[in-house]
Amino acid sequence: MCLSACFIVFPSLTFTLCISAAILLFIWRRRTSTLQSIPGPRGYPIVGHMTMLGDAPQEALTTWSKQYGSVYRLKFGVWPVVIVSGYKTVYEALVKQGDTFADRPAFQTFKDYANGASMSFHTYDASLKAHRRVTSSALKNCALGHGKTELTQALIWREGLRLLDLWSNRAGSFDPCEDVTLAIAGILYSLCFGHDRLITDDESYVNILTNVNPTTEQFAAGNHVDLLPWRKLFISKHSHNKNVERMRWMTALNQEKFDSLKHDVDASHIMGYMIEESKKAGNQSLNAEQLVNTTVEFLSAGTETSSTTLLWAIIYMAHFPEIQEKAAKEILDTLGPDHLPTMASCARLPYTEATVFEIMRLTTIVPFALPHCTTRDTRLGDYHIPKGTLVYMNLWSVGRDPHSFHYPEDFNPDRFLIEDPDYGLRLNRDALRRQLPFGAGKRKCIGEVLGKTQVMTLFTLLLQRCRIVAGKGKIPSLKPNFGDILKPKAFDISIEMKNSFE
Ligand code: HEM
Repeated sequence: MCLSACFIVFPSLTFTLCISAAILLFIWRRRTSTLQSIPGPRGYPIVGHMTMLGDAPQEALTTWSKQYGSVYRLKFGVWPVVIVSGYKTVYEALVKQGDTFADRPAFQTFKDYANGASMSFHTYDASLKAHRRVTSSALKNCALGHGKTELTQALIWREGLRLLDLWSNRAGSFDPCEDVTLAIAGILYSLCFGHDRLITDDESYVNILTNVNPTTEQFAAGNHVDLLPWRKLFISKHSHNKNVERMRWMTALNQEKFDSLKHDVDASHIMGYMIEESKKAGNQSLNAEQLVNTTVEFLSAGTETSSTTLLWAIIYMAHFPEIQEKAAKEILDTLGPDHLPTMASCARLPYTEATVFEIMRLTTIVPFALPHCTTRDTRLGDYHIPKGTLVYMNLWSVGRDPHSFHYPEDFNPDRFLIEDPDYGLRLNRDALRRQLPFGAGKRKCIGEVLGKTQVMTLFTLLLQRCRIVAGKGKIPSLKPNFGDILKPKAFDISIEMKNSFE
């Protein structure tokens, strides 16, 4: 059918399409024109730079920063976006101008997913600040504060020893992904709902948390549904709906937990503590949706990030056996073969800690943080950035900033160590401050201490009691799959138990 016939047969459809195109063009021109002074590579019409990112956008964005500087402009579909790179400029934005860069964009997926009750995707307002305050206080009172660390420690041991027991019976090569994910999910589940509650008795949670999580793709920083909204209507509709359904299922499970716990409150676990606090504070505090969603976020974000970090640690140890041996020697010399690692004893293992931090630096698993947005007009570097601009913080480039780290591509735990004439080997705090795998400032990861504690203690326990060897099947690759979390490609390892634990 020729175009003029189209106009005759579908006049109202044609009119609607023309008006929609004009509105989109108008919005796009208004948004882009304000950022014209900021440099950036040339993109394509409609998709902008999205098709130029390849399968490793973290590398593409970092390479562009070498050409265009630490503040440059791209366009992802309908959204113009400012990319901020390198330690100095990311720190300037997130910390020195913390309030200005603390907002989140109005992405469709953010709305579909939690209906405004999420902390991670919430606008930077009074409600978000209250949400962060109550959540931090719940973490302190139920997991990390005085008298609570021993309980958290016991949960980590329980899951770590279960993992080792499982692996000691595994012959040959195997994929450790599901076991590691379940161990981390098991710790968070007990922290959220009660220390004596086991995730393994709750099949729905095991299923939802250990199955590969498609939301990793869904909420990726270059997400097609958000950036090319018309794809929601066509190509991505099915997967988008599946992801939203999955998050709603998770919310429904947590709602059931909330309903069963709300009358019999035990403030020793995170959900109980938050229910109590909300009652005390009345209208000043979180509503029920926010409360339920906090545990959803802890279980989903907390499990994916910590388990992915531990999986990378396993991969790096399989790749670098000499570093594994050195860390294992430090652990055995300090703790012996049987002493379970505590948070305090981990602090006496500088080489092991430096190894974990080096793995976090090189993998920076949340490469662009969560998308940020400006709350007001501002200047960053030499450029004016208007209120409401979408900003991606390239945390991956921070970990590889040559001004902070010599030979940044090398795996070298020694970069985080210094030999102190009085105290011997200790962590180099200055170097540590210059990597930001948890972000920084007002939207910094709320689970940082818990995440580090889980990873460090489990890593120490593993190296104390077993040797990690590359599997014979799928050789572990150091190249990640891209998503909002950089996950390892499928891989196998084999485990050799050390004598005292056999
Ligand atoms: C090794 C583990 C982890 C890493 C590398 C990590 C990293 C991050 C990063 C980079 C952000 C985004 C910061 C930004 O947008 O500027 C973030 C946010 C967040 N993380 Fe984590 N995280 C980890 C563990 C956890 C754990 C264990 C929990 C909860 C139990 C958690 C809960 C959250 C929440 C709720 C946010 C959103 C905060 C906000 O928007 O205000 N994370 N995390």
